[in-house]
Amino acid sequence: MLKDLISQYIEEIRSTHIEEFKDKAAEVEQFRVKFLGRKGVMNELFEQFKALPNEQKKEMGIALNELKNAALARVEEFKNYVEEKMDAEEHHDLTLPADLAGRGSRHVLSVTMNEIAEIFARIGFTVEESVEIEDDWHLFSALNFPPDHPARDMQDTFFVEKEEGRQEVALRTHTSSVQVRVMETHKPPIRIIAPGRVFRNEAISARAHCIFHQVEALYVDKHVTFADLKQTLLYFAKEMFGEQTQIRLRPSYFPFTEPSAEMDISCNICGGKGCNICKGTGWLEILGCGMVDPNVLEACGIDSKEYSGFALGMGVERMAMLKYQIRDLRLYFENDLRFLHQFDNII
Ligand code: DAH
Repeated sequence: MLKDLISQYIEEIRSTHIEEFKDKAAEVEQFRVKFLGRKGVMNELFEQFKALPNEQKKEMGIALNELKNAALARVEEFKNYVEEKMDAEEHHDLTLPADLAGRGSRHVLSVTMNEIAEIFARIGFTVEESVEIEDDWHLFSALNFPPDHPARDMQDTFFVEKEEGRQEVALRTHTSSVQVRVMETHKPPIRIIAPGRVFRNEAISARAHCIFHQVEALYVDKHVTFADLKQTLLYFAKEMFGEQTQIRLRPSYFPFTEPSAEMDISCNICGGKGCNICKGTGWLEILGCGMVDPNVLEACGIDSKEYSGFALGMGVERMAMLKYQIRDLRLYFENDLRFLHQFDNII
């Protein structure tokens, strides 16, 4: 009988507990379809209801309505339960393992600068930093640059101010300016390195950039000789590129050193046999160096008869390129994570 069926279903609805559902969201949907779906219990009973004699319709109509409301209320209740549960799982389950946020790492240039600093620290060099916007005196004049030197030209240097009769101000083109600042304010013995950013008016390519980094080293004391420079260079090259590394010095010219030299290391890729990195020569050009020109010492207020010194300067991008075989300078500045992540573990 319809009446019995209705009471049976109402009982079923009341005795259904969502806690017993295993796959809760799916089973709630099954429950809904069973009672309220197109081919569900409600529609089926309604067909039977239509066939009832009129005098029974009122009573059965009420009963059917009760069943429908019970089913609707239960579905609603179950849905709320599932939603709350999902919410809790998504946001409030403190027992879930933490979502690992990607860990940052040092940029390969910072790692390289730190490594250079550590190598020099082991033989007593401390780190000095100074301004990136420099005046003509510290950039050029005190470093013995002649008035017509090309570095004083706008084509090579970014000038901030360049007016007739005024002190010229520019973005520093090298960290040698820090030598001057340190010598002006410190008495020898001086043993410093100066790492930092430098700027040159260059078109950006795989081999050149308008912003790059240098580390300058300066040692001034009584009786400092070229032999001290050479031994320091050999020590540095072996620490940086490996014990088997050899060095060679070629005569060169810089306004602020006399004599001046350029240092090459034996190619760490082919071991000196010749490859495309060293262009078949077996040697790689690494840095510039020399004995501090007496004119520079004097310009900074240091007596060149009592003191002598050596200086050297290197490009950090080049060091990292050679050490990690990086082929294109632009990669350093593009912040492409595929590039940066390759150096996560070099610390
Ligand atoms: N300042 C030079 C440059 O930017 C590098 C350099 C060469 C620094 C020789 C020195 C040095 O201290 O002795 O190219």
